[in-house]
Amino acid sequence: MSLNSKIYEGKAKILYKTEDPEILLADFKDDATAFNAQKRGTITNKGVINCSISTQLFQQLEAHGIKTHYIDNPNPHQMRVKAVKILPLEVVVRNIAAGSLCQQTGLPLGTLLKQPLVEFYYKNDSLGDPLLTRDRLYLLELATPEQVDTITHLALKINDFLSNFFQRCSITLVDFKLEFGLDAQQQLLLADEISPDTCRLWDTHAGNDPDSWVLDKDRFRKDLGNVEHAYQEVLQRVLKAVNSNN
Ligand code: TMP
Ligand code: ASP
Repeated sequence: MSLNSKIYEGKAKILYKTEDPEILLADFKDDATAFNAQKRGTITNKGVINCSISTQLFQQLEAHGIKTHYIDNPNPHQMRVKAVKILPLEVVVRNIAAGSLCQQTGLPLGTLLKQPLVEFYYKNDSLGDPLLTRDRLYLLELATPEQVDTITHLALKINDFLSNFFQRCSITLVDFKLEFGLDAQQQLLLADEISPDTCRLWDTHAGNDPDSWVLDKDRFRKDLGNVEHAYQEVLQRVLKAVNSNN
């Protein structure tokens, strides 16, 4: 892969062109950022771990009828994906109050939501990825009403599937972020990644200290330590759950 075929470098992945214009190569990095890249670091082996977890979850979701950009893995930290135009939306689904929901509403950490909450954020680093209202989303023409309906339906279906899947890993899916894109045929595909970088994952069997539950990027955000160990633990449990299915 020649260096000049790089088309985009994000905070956690680099995208390369391939010989086929409909296929891109995503290279998962060990780099970690938080708070809109104000905090930077590396998590040893994160690229391979997140690529592997995302691969397993995309394969599971595909088998469940969700169309994703995933194709295959030329090596453990790279994924060949269908080229899509990413919609500038971060779609967050929440089952339990944490993170910015607690900060912005005062809901206590750990409050079980009566029903999953689907939120849309504007994927725009220079604006700090602000929370959108539907009217602002349409004002900015970030997606059509039909796309918003389809994405909401898909996000809830993905939440149902992943919540059950993670339950089998003794992990509670607290919340997560999805991105969607349109392929050359204008088909909506689940894109980006699903990993401890983009989900809050709490160990169901941990002790009373909330910090001991955390198996995701909050360990890096809050300097809780043992970050790589937590990511590895998620991968091992995901692989075990997938293999027990076969
Ligand atoms: P939040 O509580 O900070 O809004 O995060 C909600 C979920 O979205 C959480 O699982 C982490 C994920 N997330 C990302 O994947 N990327 C981001 O830039 C942010 C802020 C959150
Ligand atoms: N990925 C985000 C950033 O650095 C923030 C986060 O995940 O907390 O912009």
